[in-house]
Amino acid sequence: MRAIVIEQFGVLPTVQDVAEPEVAAGGVVLKVEATGLCRSDWHGWQGHDSDIVLPHVPGHELAGTIVAVGDGVSGWEIGDRVTTPFICACGECEQCQEGNQQVCPNQLQPGFNYWGSFAEYVALPFAQVNLVRLPEEMSFDTAAGLGCRFATSFRAVHQVGKVQAGEDVVVFGCGGVGLSAVMIAAALGARVVAVDTNPGALELARKYGAADVVQAGPGAVDEIRALTGGGPRVTMDALGSNEIVQQALTVLRPQGRHLQVGLLPSGVQLDVSRLIGQELQWLGSHGMAAHTYAEMLDLVASGVLRPQDLITRTITLDDVPAALDELTAGTPAGVTVIQPPARRP
Ligand SMILES: NC(=O)c1ccc[n+]([C@@H]2O[C@H](COP(=O)([O-])OP(=O)(O)OC[C@H]3O[C@@H](n4cnc5c(N)ncnc54)[C@H](O)[C@@H]3O)[C@@H](O)[C@H]2O)c1
Ligand SMILES: [Zn+2]
Ligand SMILES: [Zn+2]
Repeated sequence: MRAIVIEQFGVLPTVQDVAEPEVAAGGVVLKVEATGLCRSDWHGWQGHDSDIVLPHVPGHELAGTIVAVGDGVSGWEIGDRVTTPFICACGECEQCQEGNQQVCPNQLQPGFNYWGSFAEYVALPFAQVNLVRLPEEMSFDTAAGLGCRFATSFRAVHQVGKVQAGEDVVVFGCGGVGLSAVMIAAALGARVVAVDTNPGALELARKYGAADVVQAGPGAVDEIRALTGGGPRVTMDALGSNEIVQQALTVLRPQGRHLQVGLLPSGVQLDVSRLIGQELQWLGSHGMAAHTYAEMLDLVASGVLRPQDLITRTITLDDVPAALDELTAGTPAGVTVIQPPARRP
């Protein structure tokens, strides 16, 4: 099959012919119908993820059709249309038993722990725990985002942040994660302020429900304070940046909640005395467990949430090296979906 192969961190990957994955007990193999390009793929390519062993095939935000079912997997058949949280949880540990598969210590992530979905086929472990059946009317392109960024933001904003109608929510960084968060928070009735360096991303944020937009930079904090009557109750770092973390810490209202979703490979220094004195809550959020997808899928089916509207570009495997490279300089506005055709050109 054709796949994107990283031979060296930071060196552009190439499209190569590699062996198709074999189905393992407890797992399935999918024909990849659509797979999103997430900044976490860029982090992986840059060498920020210690789990990655070279050579490596990235890709973790995916939807596809089952082409092989492993021993011990029941209820799933060849031809079923599915997605999966990028966190493939084991189903057996304490966290999984408690329903918190998103923090499973035995989790395996396609595109990080093993070869991922920037390929014609991908293997998924622990299928019984993680597969999510797609509603018939949902396209694969729409569903791909539910594997990582849209679902991650749904958990961050709704399950972890518990954002309520009428609250001010500031989303810093309006790429795939941030725009999803804008749409979800606005649908929950929050008043959303979107912050980004890219005017194109801010334009999209407005379209997806932001009440106000702010150009990122040193003046952002004052502008946010003015727009939120002194500061928001909720902030979200949807990029992963020290500058954003410091601005969020400064601008939050007392007892405010900060949602940390963007990765910070170099770490940050937090003014903990401010956390204490203002009773701020610093909340990490990681993916979303498959068994909680039903609520999100219902909101998509009813049209309250429209992840399909976030997609601004569809590319093929051949376009992936250039698209990854582009992420070094910045992010084009909107979400990019890759369609790897499962046939030879
Ligand atoms: N916690 C999780 O489970 C999880 C899941 C998915 C992605 N992530 C992480 O979330 C982050 C976002 O991913 P993405 O795919 O949406 O990224 P992205 O590259 O699509 O979006 C980042 C956005 O931030 C904007 N930006 C750049 N500098 C800025 C600044 N100084 N202030 C404000 N905005 C700025 C960019 O213009 C872009 O719109 C990444 O770190 C990714 O690895 C985490
Ligand atoms: Zn991702
Ligand atoms: Zn587990």
